[in-house]
Amino acid sequence: MDLVIGPLDLSAHVDEALAVQAVAFGLGAEEVAVRRQIVLRHMTHPGARALGATTRQGRLVGFVYGMPNDRAHWWSTIVEPYLRAEGHEGWLDDSFVITELHVHPDWQNRGIGRSLITTITDSAAEPRSILSAIDTDSPARALYRSLGYRDLARQVLFPSAPKPYAVMGAPLPLRRR
Ligand SMILES: CC(C)(COP(=O)(O)OP(=O)(O)OC[C@H]1O[C@@H](n2cnc3c(N)ncnc32)[C@H](O)[C@@H]1OP(=O)(O)O)[C@@H](O)C(=O)NCCC(=O)NCCS
Repeated sequence: MDLVIGPLDLSAHVDEALAVQAVAFGLGAEEVAVRRQIVLRHMTHPGARALGATTRQGRLVGFVYGMPNDRAHWWSTIVEPYLRAEGHEGWLDDSFVITELHVHPDWQNRGIGRSLITTITDSAAEPRSILSAIDTDSPARALYRSLGYRDLARQVLFPSAPKPYAVMGAPLPLRRR
């Protein structure tokens, strides 16, 4: 494949990344503007890193980013009571959080998403990884399950998100096919 998967300076390429996310995930202009500020803030967190999938012509077609979980972060405070209720609260410690993973629809189903998430977690110092995904049978959920992620909590409600999420966790390194 004529693609390079490698480190991405997400702050410098935030608009390209959000353009991918907007078409992959379905974000309107207002949501993109909100996400832009969130992404720029996330990239200031200790250990935050991103990888991109870029064509030979320099077009970004997919990206992933994440960071070591910090219980003080907004995401962690929302999921914590749900995980505690299931006896999985310990997953919030020593865990690498996958914050976003998106591949442009024209480039999906070619192994790019799998490659992005396995590559970023392979270089994590933490022994496990957690993430949240819309709680439905989606390609994302199927991919995460095949990598060893299992459900830690379901029907998790984030303020302002219209759909409930599942929180998933996997030991690192992620499972290979
Ligand atoms: C989830 C996403 C990043 C996967 O990227 P991708 O490059 O298409 O995925 P890959 O080709 O690496 O992985 C394929 C795996 O995903 C799953 N998958 C991909 N497309 C699928 C589909 N249409 N139906 C069911 N499962 C599918 C399968 O488990 C597949 O494994 P396989 O190769 O063994 O069949 C991509 O579909 C996407 O951007 N979706 C929209 C945004 C989104 O939901 N992001 C995740 C937010 S939590």
